[in-house]
Amino acid sequence: MLRTHTCGELSLEDVNQSVVLCGWVQRVRDKGGMIWLDLRDRYGITQLLFEEGKTPAQVLETARSLGREFVVSAKGEVIERLSKNDKISTGAIEIRVSELNVLNPAKLPPFLIEDETDGGDDIRMKYRYLDLRRNIVRKNLQLRHQVARYTRAYLDDLDFIEVETPVLIKSTPEGARDFVVPSRMNPGQFYALPQSPQTFKQLLMVAGFDRYYQIVKCFRDEDLRADRQPEFTQIDCEMSFVTQEDVLSTFEGMIRNLFSKVKNIELPEVPRMTYADAMRQYGSDKPDIRFEMKFTELKGGDQDLTSGKGFGVFDDAELVIGICATDCASYTRKQIDELTDWLKRPQIGAKGLVYVRYNTDGSIKSSVDKFYSDEDIKKWVVALNAKPGDLILILSGQADKARKQLNELRLEMGTRLGLRNPEEYRALWVLDFPLLEFGETENRWFAMHHPFTSPKIEDIELLDHSLGMVRANAYDMVINGVEVGGGSVRIFERGLQQKMFEILGFSQEEAQEQFGFLMNAFEFGAPPHAGIAFGFDRLCSIFGGADSIRDFIAFPKNNSGRDVMIDSPSVISDAQLKELAINVV
Ligand code: AMO
Repeated sequence: MLRTHTCGELSLEDVNQSVVLCGWVQRVRDKGGMIWLDLRDRYGITQLLFEEGKTPAQVLETARSLGREFVVSAKGEVIERLSKNDKISTGAIEIRVSELNVLNPAKLPPFLIEDETDGGDDIRMKYRYLDLRRNIVRKNLQLRHQVARYTRAYLDDLDFIEVETPVLIKSTPEGARDFVVPSRMNPGQFYALPQSPQTFKQLLMVAGFDRYYQIVKCFRDEDLRADRQPEFTQIDCEMSFVTQEDVLSTFEGMIRNLFSKVKNIELPEVPRMTYADAMRQYGSDKPDIRFEMKFTELKGGDQDLTSGKGFGVFDDAELVIGICATDCASYTRKQIDELTDWLKRPQIGAKGLVYVRYNTDGSIKSSVDKFYSDEDIKKWVVALNAKPGDLILILSGQADKARKQLNELRLEMGTRLGLRNPEEYRALWVLDFPLLEFGETENRWFAMHHPFTSPKIEDIELLDHSLGMVRANAYDMVINGVEVGGGSVRIFERGLQQKMFEILGFSQEEAQEQFGFLMNAFEFGAPPHAGIAFGFDRLCSIFGGADSIRDFIAFPKNNSGRDVMIDSPSVISDAQLKELAINVV
């Protein structure tokens, strides 16, 4: 070993010891007669001391020649510090250095390797190995390691076996776009990278593995957002001879165990909500339940408190819904106008916003006073359970659109009111998703989860006439408004699987060609099975209290799907293309 200790472990107990430390130069303070140097490694920072008269002249000279991020080794004696730093674990001691070696000099880094850096996103990504030296980023990856470790321990204890599944698989038309890989040995043919190991884990159940898991890379060629990367990691799991309830309790257990081990938080039992309720009350299948602000329908279902008063917008609307923002009656006209403009942006696309101010003096003022009497508006106030001081915000229009828009507004108000504290955690199971959704553009039905999800037994007969009504045995886990996991009870009979493909518009031949391997396997003794996959990066970012998963991935892609450090994707040579039998125009 080049060192006796790390830069994070020495304390007063080690005073008088002779030690050797290695690390990177974080900072040098040269005060003439005295030089202090902060030496950094993964474990912490230790202060080195050089003193004119006491430190050998050669060593002093070397110390004066050091720049930021030089890699050095220092031998010396641990001494008690005069002015202690209680912010770091080694803050009570320093090392009086007697030998100093430069193991490798360093160029001046293009940005500050500090928690508060001056480097923008692009430059930090280009020099990611320097960014990873920063405490904040390194801690995120250490957290990731802990999450993986406790995940494995929990699942191992429950007899799950980790099995690796292939990465070069077959492209299928369902789901997101595939990344494809040309096959040199089979000219003109391509592998696809797995969007998930879904079919393989089901085949492992047919093979009798009973309980499988894998912390596994998945690849999806989709548009990127803060919580999406083209290659990401899942905790992928499958179980045989289980009901939906068994899967929910096993993985609720896993999540609670992770919270307890990683965050020292005892998460309460995870509440459950049906998809239908989530959409009606929150306009989203992944509601953030850290705060209430549920939707109230002023017009919708059996209720209509808005029509027939001459306000065409509401008269024509399929749905009129509102939320109550506590203590926001003091919002100025300017603030409300700004909120309205925010809602009208193309990303959200609302036509306008109606508001009711319930002032603290009990008076009520709305933006539609022209059309509605005080009595009319009071009915809204009662429906929304508003209190003096509250502000009611109302949207209307086609039901799905109005719900989506109000979901955005609810989240925005939650953020503005400080109701979305990243250190507070609310998990939720969303259940009973629809099995199918209709794609207007494609004019066909799509599996909402994936084609292997089983319909609810009691809804199977609806498959013959009311496809939109069929509910699936599918479930998502949502934490703080982020979908962290999803799964389902699977189809395990050939007949039903074949019918599902028919509904999705596959001919019998196409289904056999694409998924014959799975349907054939179902004829060789497939056990009933069910499973789930968690977004591992998303889980880590939630534990880390961050919105973006990027800082929890060692070498992530940017928003254009590029790795700017290695400069990928890149063109390949004509010779390579030729060898792969790919003709480029
Ligand atoms: P699903 O497609 O819902 O299910 O994916 C499971 C979880 O993976 C995470 N996730 C992502 N994370 C980062 N970047 C992405 N591009 C990305 N896409 C998905 C989400 C999501 O909840 N085979 C099924 C699971 C099953 O049925 O067992 C599947 O992949 O957190």
